[in-house]
Amino acid sequence: MSPVDLDPYAADLTEPTVWEVYEAAREAGPVAWSDRRGGFWVVTGYDDVRAVLRDAATFSSASGHRIPTDGTQRAVPIDFDPPLHTGYRKLMTPVLSPARVRALRPFLERTISELVRAFATRGGGDFVTEVALPLPLAVLTELVGFAPSTVERFREVTEQMWSGLDADGAAVDFVGARQRVYDLMADELAAHRSDPVDDVVGSLLTAEVDGRALDEDERISILATFAVAGHETTMNAASTLVHLLVAHPEHQRRLRADPERAPAYVEEMLRHRSPAQNFARRATCPASVAGHRIAEGDAVLLSLAAANRDPERFADPACFDPDRDARGHLGFGWGIHQCPGGVLARTELAILLRTLGELPPLHLDGEVTWSGLQGGNHLGPTRLPIRFATDGA
Ligand code: HEM
Repeated sequence: MSPVDLDPYAADLTEPTVWEVYEAAREAGPVAWSDRRGGFWVVTGYDDVRAVLRDAATFSSASGHRIPTDGTQRAVPIDFDPPLHTGYRKLMTPVLSPARVRALRPFLERTISELVRAFATRGGGDFVTEVALPLPLAVLTELVGFAPSTVERFREVTEQMWSGLDADGAAVDFVGARQRVYDLMADELAAHRSDPVDDVVGSLLTAEVDGRALDEDERISILATFAVAGHETTMNAASTLVHLLVAHPEHQRRLRADPERAPAYVEEMLRHRSPAQNFARRATCPASVAGHRIAEGDAVLLSLAAANRDPERFADPACFDPDRDARGHLGFGWGIHQCPGGVLARTELAILLRTLGELPPLHLDGEVTWSGLQGGNHLGPTRLPIRFATDGA
C-alpha cells in the first residue's frame, strides 16, 4: 500500500499548489492511501477514476460525496444511490434538458450581454463579484422560479461564504450557511403554497418519488442542490476562464478572430482546471481498483482534477491547449451522477466567451486570490480584478 499525505482540508489545496499535491498522489501510485480524516484511498488515474464512477453499485455515494464519508451528508441527489437516486434524477434532469437550455438561450444571451457590457462600461472591476457571481443566480431565478428576494438573500449567504474562503478561511461557517440556504428554500416552498405558480418550485409540491409524495426535507434539498450545485460551479468556471484569458492574451486574440472556437476553450478549461475537483465514494463490498484491494467500507476519493491531467490520457496535460481534443474529460463526472447541468453550464460559458470577444481586450488589474478546497470540491478565484483596454491594445 502506497501512502500519500493528502488532507482534503489542507491549506495547500488551492492554486497553484493543488496541482503539486495531485502529482505527489499520482507518484505514490494510481491508488494511494491517506491516513487523514479517518483514512481513505486516493485515485488519480483517468481510467481508474472513470471505472469507479461507472460502478455505482460497488462504490456508493450514500455515505456522502466529501471526505469524511460519515453518512451525515444527505444532499439530493448527490448523496444517494439507486433506486432513490434514479427517482430524484427523473424529477431534476428535465429542468436541465438540452431542449430547456435551447429555450433559455435568448434569456442567457440577453442576461450575459447586459452583465458583461455594464461591467465593461465601468472599465472593469472584480469579475467574480460583478459578473461570475450574479450570472448563475440570474439563470437560476429564471430556471427554477426563485423569487428575486430569495436570490438576493442567497447571494448574501454566498458572498459571505466566498469572501471567507481565501487561504485562511478556516473560520467559514459551512453548517450555518447551509442552514440559511435550507431556510430560504423552505420559505420559497411556503410562498408557492400560498400563491401557486407553475414553475419548478411549484411542481415539487405535488411531485412523487418511489410512488409516494416527496417530503418537505426532500423538496428543500432538491431546491438547495439547484441553487448550490448550479451556482458555485458555474461561477468558478466563468472566473477561471477569464483568468486563463488574461494569463494568455494570445487566446483572446484567437477567440476574437474566431468566436466559433468558444466551446473548445470551455472544454479545455474544464479539463485543465476542473472547477469541481474531487468526489468521494464508499465501497459496498470488497473491490479492486488498478489491482489494489479495497476493503468493504473503505472510503475512496476520486480526483477528477488529477484524472483530467493524467499524462496517459492527455498529452502534456499541464498545458492549456484549446486545440487538443479534450472530449472525454471528467470535469462533469461520469456514470449515474454525471452532472445534469453540463449543457446549461457549457452554453452559459460559451456565450460569455463570445460576448467578451466583442469587447476591448481584458487585462489583469491587481492580485488574484483563490478559494481553498476546504474538504469540498469547488476551486476558483475569489477575487479577479479586470480592466478593459481603453486603447484597443
Ligand atoms: C461548470 C459547471 C459545473 C461543473 C464543473 C459541475 C460538475 C459536476 C460534477 C463533477 C458532478 C458529479 C458529482 C459526483 O459524481 O458525485 C456534478 C453533479 C451535479 N451537478 Fe454539476 N457541475 C456544473 C454545473 C452545474 C449546474 C449549472 C447545475 C444545475 C443548475 C448542476 C447540477 C448538478 C447536480 C444536481 C448534480 C448531482 C447529480 C447526481 O448526483 O446525480 N451542475 N456536477
